[in-house]
Amino acid sequence: MTTITTTTTTLLSLLAGVCFIRANPLLGLVDPACFVASSGECPNQNVTFWLYSNATRDAPIQLNPVDLNPWDFQPPRPLKILIHGYTGHRDFAPNNHIRPALLDNVDVYVISIDYAPLVRYPCYVQAVRNLPLVSKCLAQLINNLLERGIVQHELVHIIGFSLGGQVAGQTSNYLKRKPKRITGLDPAKPLFILSSESRRLDASDAEFVDVIHTDTLGRGMMRPMGHVDFYPNFGPLQPGCLEENPNDPGSCNHERAPRFYAESINSTLGFWGRQCSSWLIYLFGLCSTRAAQALMGYQVSENMTGNYFLKAGSAPPYAMGKPEEPDNSKYVAKFRLSAKHNEIEHDYEPELSDPIPELEDNDVDTDELEKQLIWQEALDEPLF
Ligand SMILES: *[C@@H]1O[C@H](CO)[C@@H](O)[C@H](O)[C@H]1NC(C)=O
Ligand SMILES: *[C@@H]1O[C@H](CO)[C@@H](O)[C@H](O)[C@H]1NC(C)=O
Ligand SMILES: *[C@@H]1O[C@H](CO)[C@@H](O)[C@H](O)[C@H]1NC(C)=O
Ligand SMILES: *[C@@H]1O[C@H](CO)[C@@H](O)[C@H](O)[C@H]1NC(C)=O
Repeated sequence: MTTITTTTTTLLSLLAGVCFIRANPLLGLVDPACFVASSGECPNQNVTFWLYSNATRDAPIQLNPVDLNPWDFQPPRPLKILIHGYTGHRDFAPNNHIRPALLDNVDVYVISIDYAPLVRYPCYVQAVRNLPLVSKCLAQLINNLLERGIVQHELVHIIGFSLGGQVAGQTSNYLKRKPKRITGLDPAKPLFILSSESRRLDASDAEFVDVIHTDTLGRGMMRPMGHVDFYPNFGPLQPGCLEENPNDPGSCNHERAPRFYAESINSTLGFWGRQCSSWLIYLFGLCSTRAAQALMGYQVSENMTGNYFLKAGSAPPYAMGKPEEPDNSKYVAKFRLSAKHNEIEHDYEPELSDPIPELEDNDVDTDELEKQLIWQEALDEPLF
């Protein structure tokens, strides 16, 4: 009975999520204020880097990627690089959530990248087209830090939210050495569903890639993208978001990813996820309550792989610790689910064998693009 009720509730929330999709990448297509960066040169005036430590948190140092000062990075500490998304800047999500939490609790350097002029509202399509430039400039900085021995490879961790998650993946294309760790916080979906892996964050982009999905039917990707993928509250609708932002719960869902991540840095309870076959199986309450558990967020163990589902609260502190769950193995056994069902392989973000031309060349045919976007959105909605 309980299972059926839970399933119904989840389905209702799912439908609510679908109705509230607001991301509309078409808005800026004809807006004259939207532009694709004219110069592909790095360093670039529109891509800046700001270094913070606990002592300089209110007076960050602007870095010159081609003229770095080793003394700025003394004493040696781990380096966390934070990347904002669409309409963001260096004090916008994930920076405003994660940077203070890091500086308060861990002895690290934080670099916040700022590429606000390239991702202004309503220029989503242009923003996506500007990402390779942003990625190239970030890679230039990281390559120089490593080459000059200012920072050790093992200590670099890139954390990107939304479009910033895709920037993190693309940065890998320009790095001389594959980065140690990338965290994707609800990596952006519009215009990435059909794109190739070189443009989209995936497990090959770093030695370890962990991803948190919080708005799977709206702005964020549903498909697993890392070595380990976490689905708080199963992905589509985060508790509290309908109340917090009734006009656009999707933006609240999306922003939960950096909020959860910030809390995970010093959470005593922890966000514990349980491995499950697939989101569909989770939806029907058929996940074994004896499956492996993994801690989501900052403290994730880098040897974990697979998809993990967890519940999180509607207000801070969001973490709920390790859930007490009755053993359902007898019930689940009836459905003969094996460990092989551990991948979310065929969800509603299909790979097409014959992809539509992506945004590579400079003359965009807006009609074609419009068709593509509408088609993508249609594909992306769950088919009940
Ligand atoms: C930087 O952005 C401005 C608009 O804010 C634009 O006019 C300029 O061409 C951009 N510069 C480069 C190097 O892309
Ligand atoms: C975690 O750190 C934040 C400050 O960033 C603090 O407000 C909060 O109380 C801390 N939580 C725990 C559980 O220590
Ligand atoms: C940051 O600095 C404050 C004092 O300004 C200090 O109390 C705190 O322990 C420091 N945090 C870390 C992680 O070093
Ligand atoms: C993963 O690493 C942790 C230590 O970080 C260890 O306790 C655990 O046993 C390892 N798990 C696996 C599956 O190797």
